[in-house]
Amino acid sequence: MKPAPIILGSERSEAGLFEGARILAEGGSALDAVEVALRLCEDNLSDHYVGTGGLPNARGDVELDASVMVGSTRAFGAVGAVKGFAHPISIARAVLEKLPQHCLLVAEGAELFADEGGFERRDLLTDEARELFRAAFASSSESVEGERTEASAGDEAYRRTALALVNHFRPHDGPWGTINVLALDEHGELVAGVSTSGYPWKYPGRVGDSAIAGAGNYADLRYGAAGCTGRGELSMRLTGARVVVDNLARGDEPDQACRAMLAEASGLPDEFRAELRTLCLTPDGRHGGASGQAGSTYNVIRAADGKLVTRPRVQL
Ligand code: GLY
Repeated sequence: MKPAPIILGSERSEAGLFEGARILAEGGSALDAVEVALRLCEDNLSDHYVGTGGLPNARGDVELDASVMVGSTRAFGAVGAVKGFAHPISIARAVLEKLPQHCLLVAEGAELFADEGGFERRDLLTDEARELFRAAFASSSESVEGERTEASAGDEAYRRTALALVNHFRPHDGPWGTINVLALDEHGELVAGVSTSGYPWKYPGRVGDSAIAGAGNYADLRYGAAGCTGRGELSMRLTGARVVVDNLARGDEPDQACRAMLAEASGLPDEFRAELRTLCLTPDGRHGGASGQAGSTYNVIRAADGKLVTRPRVQL
């Protein structure tokens, strides 16, 4: 029996999920559905945690991470710390498809690859994101030397200032984070995609879990696919998405698999108490999600009816 195509995503994924569901409903692939859904999220200027309009690093540059993983082959493509390109998820897919000897390209190398592939360049720092950045600096007790201007080019001074800033900034309030999109198509393929502008005010060059296989993103057609949002360093230390899939493999129901991963993460010492959230999808279309905070949700669309259902994540 053909599986019932389904797509799900973390908070704010609704910007792209309908289009992803439409692709699935027309018999398209989970890979196309995930890429298209995330491209639309990357174009959503009101979302400050992904793509254009994403919050910048400590130096005022928007740096993007993205990845995609295919469940049947566990093929993985990712980019990290990419500047100046509109759709990092599409560059990640191109790494997967056109550069199979590699899984992850970062910074200048990823940008070279994107230029060679003709990917759209774009100024990613919107006026609104720039204002949020300035406001964060204004409320900081540190100087603003770290902000990139013609007058503050001293790298040593910058390095000290940026470190102080990264240490000083509180974790961003609200549901900051990455977008995960997971899809199952009518051929039974399971794909996980992730896109993010990463931790707001991060140290330049910081790459988070979204670009790391097993951390922010994992898909294994035998058991399921999972994605993480939020505190990426916790997810990297734990290999959060992989742990969720391992939990599915041992027989956990989806909510339980997600919750158990967060329970394990909560045992790790971490002075940055930003939260970690996760969601997963099984090869037979079951899904679940978990969060450390009340009120966290994820979005689901079954391609057959095209209706978006927002479901609460279980709370740790
Ligand atoms: N989870 C996204 C990040 O830490 O960059």
